[in-house]
Amino acid sequence: MTIEQHLQQWQGQVSELLQQRLPAADSSPHTLHQAMRYGALNGGKRIRPILVFATGQALGADDVDLSYPAMAVELIHCYSLVHDDLPAMDDDDLRRGKPTCHIQFNEATAILAGDALHTQAFEELSGAEFSHRATPQQLEMIQVLARASGSLGMGGGQAIDLESTQKMIDLDTLENMHRMKTGALIKASVLLGALCAGPLKPDERQALESYADAIGLAFQVKDDILDIESDTQTLGKPQGSDLEKDKNTYPALLGIEGSRQKLDDLLQLALQALAKLPYNTQLLANLAQFIVHRNA
Ligand code: IPE
Ligand code: IPE
Ligand code: MG
Ligand code: MG
Ligand code: MG
Repeated sequence: MTIEQHLQQWQGQVSELLQQRLPAADSSPHTLHQAMRYGALNGGKRIRPILVFATGQALGADDVDLSYPAMAVELIHCYSLVHDDLPAMDDDDLRRGKPTCHIQFNEATAILAGDALHTQAFEELSGAEFSHRATPQQLEMIQVLARASGSLGMGGGQAIDLESTQKMIDLDTLENMHRMKTGALIKASVLLGALCAGPLKPDERQALESYADAIGLAFQVKDDILDIESDTQTLGKPQGSDLEKDKNTYPALLGIEGSRQKLDDLLQLALQALAKLPYNTQLLANLAQFIVHRNA
């Protein structure tokens, strides 16, 4: 199977899981439930849950176990997108090729839908019916996801992003912001998949974290490049949004060539980290390549 076929298969699986687990659109409160489903079932690459599955499978975890953290991490991601697009944040009107949640519904509903998606992520993970293999790591998984989502992870990165918009920041601050706002959840995805297979050996954890750190930063560097080089239809979100809002991005600080070089370096780091693992990591390597070479 090619990586594209793998991605398609996993995307279908993730959407199916979310479809089943999200509150029904005809259950009360109807508008909130419709907005939650709108924010989570509107396509997307599903790269975070795919990383959960790919890492878990490489380490021998069970697919049913993996489905819980896969859903949880995508629910957090979808919440972060619904809030990221709000007028108080990036003020964007297109997401995954459709009007953003606050445009389709209204701002208050989008805030609540984000909140509820966030909460459901922890409901899925804490209520998971794990096998004997994954159960001992359940609390650790909840902690990993909580830290990655909170003020020292995605939420904190978003705060730095907003504080530093229209201001000059240095490269270290930019890298830290990217590692927090995007890298943290990607790293959590890799760790959650691995934890489904059993407790992590320190050297394996280190290699997995190096891989995840590299692809996590690469993901946002590529997102910044695509904001300049791609087009709105391919992206499904407004091209040029960063420039328009004077956001701090890799291309803004390093230029396009410098950003491309950074991507290459990060890809090499990711592949080197995988080489230290005693598993078949071909799919994880393919996913790193996908993150760096994707066009949306
Ligand atoms: C976009 O994430 C926001 C970032 C963290 C860069 P994705 O590019 O994964 O968005 P979807 O889920 O595919 O729509
Ligand atoms: C968003 O970064 C990171 C999140 C935590 C959602 P961006 O603001 O660059 O994401 P897009 O480009 O709107 O998808
Ligand atoms: Mg943003
Ligand atoms: Mg945005
Ligand atoms: Mg962006």
